[in-house]
Formats: sequence, C-alpha cells, structure tokens
Amino acid sequence: MTRLGVIGTGGIAGVHMDNLKTISGVEIAALCDINPEQLTSKLESYGGRGYNDFREMIAQEALDGVLLCTPPAVRYEPIKACIEKGIPIFVEKPPSVTLEEGEKIRDLLQAHQHPHFVGFVFRWTRFLQPVFEVLKGRQIYGIQSHYFADMMFPEARARCSHIYYDKALSGGMIGDQALHIIDLIRWLSQADARRVTGFGNNFLCPKGPGITTEETVAFQLQMDNGVVANHLHTWAFPRWEIVMNLFGQGFNFRLNLGESKVTGQVDGKEFEAAQESQMHCPLMEDFVEFIRTRNPELVKSDYSDAIKTQALTQAINQSVEQEKMIDL
Ligand SMILES: NC(=O)c1ccc[n+]([C@@H]2O[C@H](COP(=O)([O-])OP(=O)(O)OC[C@H]3O[C@@H](n4cnc5c(N)ncnc54)[C@H](O)[C@@H]3O)[C@@H](O)[C@H]2O)c1
Repeated sequence: MTRLGVIGTGGIAGVHMDNLKTISGVEIAALCDINPEQLTSKLESYGGRGYNDFREMIAQEALDGVLLCTPPAVRYEPIKACIEKGIPIFVEKPPSVTLEEGEKIRDLLQAHQHPHFVGFVFRWTRFLQPVFEVLKGRQIYGIQSHYFADMMFPEARARCSHIYYDKALSGGMIGDQALHIIDLIRWLSQADARRVTGFGNNFLCPKGPGITTEETVAFQLQMDNGVVANHLHTWAFPRWEIVMNLFGQGFNFRLNLGESKVTGQVDGKEFEAAQESQMHCPLMEDFVEFIRTRNPELVKSDYSDAIKTQALTQAINQSVEQEKMIDL
C-alpha cells in the first residue's frame, strides 16, 4: 500500500484525491488543513487521519509521499519537513510567490537530491504525449494561444480564493494561471525566452484594494531558439476556453487544453488525440509510480525548471507594469 498525506485540502487537493482513489494500492492516510471546516469535510469524503499542523502530521504518520496543495506562500517549511523525513513530495504550482524563496527551496531540494514533482499538469497529460513525440526533431515556427476565464465576474470572485486577485499573494493572473501556458510554451519549444513584451488592462474590474492583478493581458515571447509565441489571457470572459495553436515543419496542431483533445495534421495526414480521464489523473498516476519506482523519467517538472517558468511570469508582469520590452 502507498500511504499518502495531503497538506492543504482545498479545491485542487479534492481533484487530486478523486484521481488517487482510482489508482489501486493507494491509501489517503492523512490530511492536514488549518481550516477546520475544510478539513472535516475532506475527511468525510476521503478518509484518513486529520491534522491542523503539517509538522505533526509528518512526525506522526509513516507516509510514502506528500501532496503539497497549499497557497504558494506555504512552500518552504512543509518541503523542508518532508526533506528531513525523506518523504517524496508533489508541490503544486506556482513553485513559490517570490523568486528569492523559490531559489532557496531549489537549493535545499538540490542539496538533498530530494525526490519531487512540481505540478505543471500539461506536461503529464496523455493527450499531449503524441504531440510531444511528433515535435521531436522538428522545428516549431510559431505558437498562438488564449486562455479565457470568468474569474473577474462577481459570482466567480465569490467562489475563488482572494489570493488569486492579489499579485503579492499569488502572482495574479499571469503568475498563477498564465504560468501553465508559459510553462507549456517552454516545454514544447524546448527553449527559454530571450525577450518578452506585454500589455494589460482592467475594464470589467478596476484595480483597487485586494485586486492588483490585470484582468486582460496580451504578451509575446521570443524564445532563445527563435520560436515566437503570443498569448491573450483574460478573466473578463463569461466562459472558460483554453486553446493553443502551433505549427512548424510538416505539422499544425490545435490543442484544446480545456477539453483535453488535439486535432491537426502531420505530414499531410489528419491527426487526433484525446484523454478520457480527468486532466490531472496522469500526473497523480505518475507521482504514485514515481514513489514506488523512483524512475527519474517520470519527473517531467522539477523545482529548478519550475522556477524558470516562474521567472518568466515575473518578467511578463514587469513588462506589463512598466510598459516596456524586457530582455532576459
Ligand atoms: N495544477 C492545477 O491545475 C491547479 C489548479 C488549481 C489550483 N492550483 C494550485 O494549487 C494551490 C492551491 O489552490 P486551491 O485552489 O486548491 O486553493 P484553496 O484555497 O481551495 O485550498 C488551499 C487550502 O490550503 C489550506 N492551507 C493554507 N495554509 C495552510 C497550512 N499552513 N497548512 C495546511 N493547510 C493550509 C487552506 O486552508 C485551504 O483549504 C495553489 O498554489 C494553486 O495555484 C493548481
């Protein structure tokens, strides 16, 4: 039996635990949350022993792995506690709020060669694996994407955690959410950005107390291998829609990231791929397999790579705020 503990039992932890319940030989052994109502409701749904202090949970339980699903300000101490007890850890994105803390955590993980994943979910999705295979050895020419969500509408603001609207707590729309797309652009192009430029506005929900994030941002990236990308991200759209188009040497793809499917053409032939299971399911399957086998090939995102994605989100935020192109 693989015994797991979960720190932070809110929205995404529920998604992960639903997926973990479909994997045989997994026991959700312990849950930890500082919010007692949240903890009680998740204990009722998923079982396990409950804790309000992760240190106590880690000290008292014999765990094979831990999922860290707290807001990004809660990263260093739980990661350190897992390192001290030698427990592999899955860390939700973003890797931290500030780059300084991110670098401190990266150095700690590296110094102990500690086994871990960072949850950039698209890297693990089954529907994108055939795309990654096609891209091996082929040049991408361009990437164009959009991520539309309703998060600035009043109903959504009542539903979503306040941290997402405050850049100092989460990185805001770019640092918390567009970072999935930025990470995917880095993963697909196998490159880092050389230059970025971005523009933003707040027409639906002006900035004010508690709202420091832009609500609509357009940005462009020039990658260091010459690939160019442009992305439009908004929280002022009444529906969710996440789509990426990419094209290059003998291929073109339309990735419907919100619906876990891809269409396109490769060398003149129609191409299709889809994933039936919930989007994050392969990520949890691979984390459990990693705990059992320690196969390094399962680690598609580690902390040192994740903070490169985070650094890029900060450069984009900087470009938007200062209205200038940033050279990296
Ligand atoms: N990969 C994805 O697709 C995805 C999707 C949603 C959220 N996330 C990320 O997951 C993280 C959590 O997001 P969420 O939407 O689940 O937030 P949430 O607010 O719903 O849940 C976070 C939980 O952590 C708890 N918590 C806070 N500090 C704690 C502490 N010190 N010890 C124990 N528990 C603590 C809170 O009480 C809360 O219940 C964020 O970093 C977010 O960006 C990732």
